[in-house]
Amino acid sequence: MSKDSTPVGAAHFAYIAEHTTREDAFLGQLRAAAKAAGLPEIHIAPEQAALLQILLKLRGAKHVVEVGTLGGYSAIAMARALPAVGRVRTLEIDSKHAEFARSWIAKSDVKDKIEVMVGDARNLLAMMPAGATDAVFLDADKEGYVDYLKEALRILRPNGLLLADNVLAGGDVVKKAKQSATAKAMQAFNDAVAATPGLRSIIVPIGDGCLVGVKD
Ligand code: SAH
Ligand code: DHB
Ligand code: MG
Repeated sequence: MSKDSTPVGAAHFAYIAEHTTREDAFLGQLRAAAKAAGLPEIHIAPEQAALLQILLKLRGAKHVVEVGTLGGYSAIAMARALPAVGRVRTLEIDSKHAEFARSWIAKSDVKDKIEVMVGDARNLLAMMPAGATDAVFLDADKEGYVDYLKEALRILRPNGLLLADNVLAGGDVVKKAKQSATAKAMQAFNDAVAATPGLRSIIVPIGDGCLVGVKD
């Protein structure tokens, strides 16, 4: 048994990216167009997309809810891992982001699998039925994560997947003093996840940290 993780630095992450399923041309074009349109460059990385796709396929997920659409990059990636009847409902507060995402989803091979819902995720999640979602991916405002966790645990079915981006907060989650609001929010979220009975979870340290949990 090995108690210690192998130290992983920038060269190892480059190696990991080189040995992980690559981004396809369409998603590369979406990223470039999103940048040209002035959207922030905060889509998930290709290796995070691969991790989400693998987990959704293993889960056999059909009903996926995403919190934070931006340009539709992660929604399209996730939709591609679902069966023909699968659906991603993705929630976005910014109408400019939602409009960009809708236009690229319409051009994609998964246009019939994704629904963009515009509004504050707090309100949109509250309207969703309990126990009917196979996977939830949190990737919106970090101050909302603790509230989104409660709603995610409510809407997930037994054995449902809880996924969340940015749980390392750029590395700042291990800082004790002078944390940013984002780091404090992520510490609160990670603490709440760790304290949730009936949730098995791990932080996978790719990208800015990917929380993977399974509800009992
Ligand atoms: N998942 C996307 C990136 C999302 S970036 C991808 O990987 O491609 C975070 C997004 O969350 C932004 O578009 C932002 O406008 C949105 N957001 C912020 N606060 C929100 C809220 N309260 N409800 C819904 N979306 C929100
Ligand atoms: C930010 C948000 C994200 O979801 C992300 O992956 C990176 C940065 C941000 O708000 O700065
Ligand atoms: Mg993110």
